[in-house]
Amino acid sequence: MSYPIVRHRRLRRTAGLRSLVRETALSVDDLIYPIFVTHGEKVKEEIPSMPGVYHLSMDLLEAEIREVVGLGIKSILLFGVPSHKDAEGSSAYDPNGIVQEATRKVKSWAPELVVVADTCLCQFTDHGHCGVVHQDKATGVAVVDNDKSLELLVRTAISQAEAGADVIAPSNMMDGFVHAIRSGLDEAGYSDIAIMSYSVKYASAFYGPFRDAAHSAPQFGDRKTYQMDPANAREALREAESDVTEGADMLMVKPALAYLDIVKTLKEQFDLPVVAYNVSAEYSMVKAAAANGWIDERSIVTETLLSMKRAGADIIITYHAKDLAKWLKGE
Ligand code: PBG
Repeated sequence: MSYPIVRHRRLRRTAGLRSLVRETALSVDDLIYPIFVTHGEKVKEEIPSMPGVYHLSMDLLEAEIREVVGLGIKSILLFGVPSHKDAEGSSAYDPNGIVQEATRKVKSWAPELVVVADTCLCQFTDHGHCGVVHQDKATGVAVVDNDKSLELLVRTAISQAEAGADVIAPSNMMDGFVHAIRSGLDEAGYSDIAIMSYSVKYASAFYGPFRDAAHSAPQFGDRKTYQMDPANAREALREAESDVTEGADMLMVKPALAYLDIVKTLKEQFDLPVVAYNVSAEYSMVKAAAANGWIDERSIVTETLLSMKRAGADIIITYHAKDLAKWLKGE
């Protein structure tokens, strides 16, 4: 009888040995927790398709922030659910808009907490697109006007920086958005404020529950003329490349789970921190299966987020952040 020369199981024999050779780990330091703020008082409305995620009014935000900080989470991503929408998304760049107001409040309660502001128009436009829409002269078709949208996005970013946001995260996928926002921030005196670019954002069905949450589904058409085709990987390199050239400080891939190949490629090709956005439907699917008793939520979430780290993500944006922080503390 001949025995195996190489025995992989030797290093798996005990928990101590396994932890010694473990290659990746999850840390609360790497998490960003998304929060949805809305107008009104005493509003804590659970998003039906995202159990455990709420629309919160400003008066209830402080308790949430205290909890997040208490769990050791160092960063949040703020989304606004405004009461007013119009064609130009004007409440996105209103100095007293919902995100701006929430940012000021959060910074007053928790100055150390990193506030990332999502910079987009889709929650604020009545048509639900991420930019301004005009009728194409030749075809009569409604299209999102790239350069006109940039002007409004720059205004949005500056107003968010003014309110105290530490990081501007443009998610609109207009061409040249990083350059435009970088120049705008610099001219306004915010050259130290970082840009986390949604560099590689796919036109994905995985945003469905978010659009319920943020009331931001496009009222006509879809986002395929500005977000990327899920079939493309080489194009992701071009998107990331242009953001690097334009001055992005971090590169995001979104969604995460179905695009781990892209996370890995960006990690290999660029030196900037790579961010993976574990988006709404990735969360909802786990929650639904767990509620049915079909999967073990904690194990599934841990394994999923670990896969993002293993693929190369330095930072993970996830609705599971509070749960993970508790589990990492041993609760
Ligand atoms: C805004 C934006 C979206 C998400 C984050 N920022 C929606 C979209 O592009 O339709 C999705 C986040 C999620 O699904 O969790 N543009």
